[in-house]
Amino acid sequence: MYSHQLLYRTHNCGELCKKDIGKEVVLSGWIQKLRNLGSLTFIDIRDYFGITQLIFSKKRKKNTESELGKEFIIKVRGKVVERVSKNYKIPTGEIEVLVSQIEVLNSSISTPFLIEDQTDGDEKSRMKYRYLDIRRNPIKNNLKLRHNISLEIRNFLSQNGFLEIETPVLINHTPEGARSFVVPSRIHSGKFYSLPQSPQLFKQLLMIGGIDKYFQIVKCFRDEDARSDRQIEFTQIDCEMGFVCVSDVLIFFENFIKHIFQKIKNIQLETFTRITYSDAIRMYGTDKPDLRFGMKFVELNDLVRKKEIEFFQKQELTMGITVPKCSYYTCNQINLMIEWMKKQPKIGIEDIFWLKYFPDKTLLSPMSKFMKNEDIITFVKHFKANPGDLLFIFYGKKTRNQLRQLRLVEMAHRLNLKKTKEFKPLWVTDFPLLEWNEEIQRYKPFHHPFTNPKEEDLPFLEKYPENIRSQSYDLIINGVEIGGGSIRIHNKNIQNLILKHLGLSKQEIQSKFGFFIKAFEYGVPPHGGIAFGLDRLIAILEGKENIKEFIAFPKNNSGKDIMINAPSFLEMKK
Ligand code: AMO
Repeated sequence: MYSHQLLYRTHNCGELCKKDIGKEVVLSGWIQKLRNLGSLTFIDIRDYFGITQLIFSKKRKKNTESELGKEFIIKVRGKVVERVSKNYKIPTGEIEVLVSQIEVLNSSISTPFLIEDQTDGDEKSRMKYRYLDIRRNPIKNNLKLRHNISLEIRNFLSQNGFLEIETPVLINHTPEGARSFVVPSRIHSGKFYSLPQSPQLFKQLLMIGGIDKYFQIVKCFRDEDARSDRQIEFTQIDCEMGFVCVSDVLIFFENFIKHIFQKIKNIQLETFTRITYSDAIRMYGTDKPDLRFGMKFVELNDLVRKKEIEFFQKQELTMGITVPKCSYYTCNQINLMIEWMKKQPKIGIEDIFWLKYFPDKTLLSPMSKFMKNEDIITFVKHFKANPGDLLFIFYGKKTRNQLRQLRLVEMAHRLNLKKTKEFKPLWVTDFPLLEWNEEIQRYKPFHHPFTNPKEEDLPFLEKYPENIRSQSYDLIINGVEIGGGSIRIHNKNIQNLILKHLGLSKQEIQSKFGFFIKAFEYGVPPHGGIAFGLDRLIAILEGKENIKEFIAFPKNNSGKDIMINAPSFLEMKK
């Protein structure tokens, strides 16, 4: 023990208990609570570790106590005594410290919000005075959790042969799909560095450099609109491995995620579901399906054609969804839901049909006006519905989008299906390599331009780039994209061809990626990897949606740090 530590405290505010009764102690901390009961004064003193009750005897001079206030920092000397009325909810609740000396180390003006677990502060003032917010247990505990998770990650990856390597922050634009932040160079007037959207190219260059397994817990910067699960400055667990194929990566990182859940939450995750991108869209209308609940889409196109149900035959796409055990919904309730959906932007709903399959197997549906009863029964069978279920049938052009909205937002919310303590991870694989962008009239990479096409699709890469699937994968947990990666291109010709498909001329390829293409001439090993969003991973482990709660100093949703008032204008030198 260093002697100078004893100047401020012999113990922290969270550790004294019954066995310490009779000891002379020194404590320092903030005043959490003050109660002046006339002859007696009680103070709760708080530090990082906890809270201890202080009691001031009647005989003491009370000059100092009368000047104290909440959040003052005090140092006290006193004797540990047994408490008369005990508080078993906190570790120090059986004792109190009978104070003999008090010194005010610092005073405090009144805080803009309560420094308590349940605060009255709104998000704006909590962000403006984030250092006060961090004094509260919920935020402090989130930061501790973040530390523990990062430590677990480092240990696990290091023990499995991964080397943590730092990559540069002042680089050129990396094409990850968002805009980059730029930093002007003082020495090279008129030139700019870009902040990395991810260390993608550098981790690939490390593989070319013969590093076998790399990782980095790294800040990434993307100039995009922030929202609850997105920050312009966020942290990735960035990983890359040499000589691997898709299944090597998925198996290793499935174990990695299982390990984190086990260590941090003591939760044993089941084997992750694997589903291709096209199946995810077909069955759930999204590439980030939340598998905590079923309600898979049911395709009805073939059925309506076979049965010659004229009304639906005319529609582009007819699909349905079964909502289990909801046949008791009143027509009024259903109509309200339909009205709600009609009002949602981007859904563009025309109409929906519903079908109630009551527990006694009777049916009720407005479709009976134009459909034979036996056809309705065929529908119910096709849906594999159970008595008591409520079915919805959508038709038109945007059917999948409508169904997705109904499944994910409306029904999951109404039926309280998004259980925060339940975790359903899945791998979505085989994303398209490229997608056509109407706005710029060019292909854009679905992930990034270094993603390897699937072997079996390679012969079509030259002529039909839009039909090519890639060796890519995303990790989705409870509908949130937690990670994404791919096997990378290690063949110079394929890399060049893809950059050409993205509309880059030979000169542009040379000026933007010349160094990278050059490296392809020196023997590139087959390699692949993944990056996880650390902020999102922590939030999901805690069953929360807002990643700000797990970042010490986050930006608000318009990308501002309202505490330090960034961004700000630069002072121009005359
Ligand atoms: P990707 O762009 O999919 O892949 O990013 C990987 C993961 O990072 C998280 N993430 C974010 N988290 C918070 N705020 C953001 N703005 C944000 N953007 C992304 C997500 C996402 O799954 N270089 C590739 C990885 C690779 O191919 O290995 C990449 O960056 O959880």
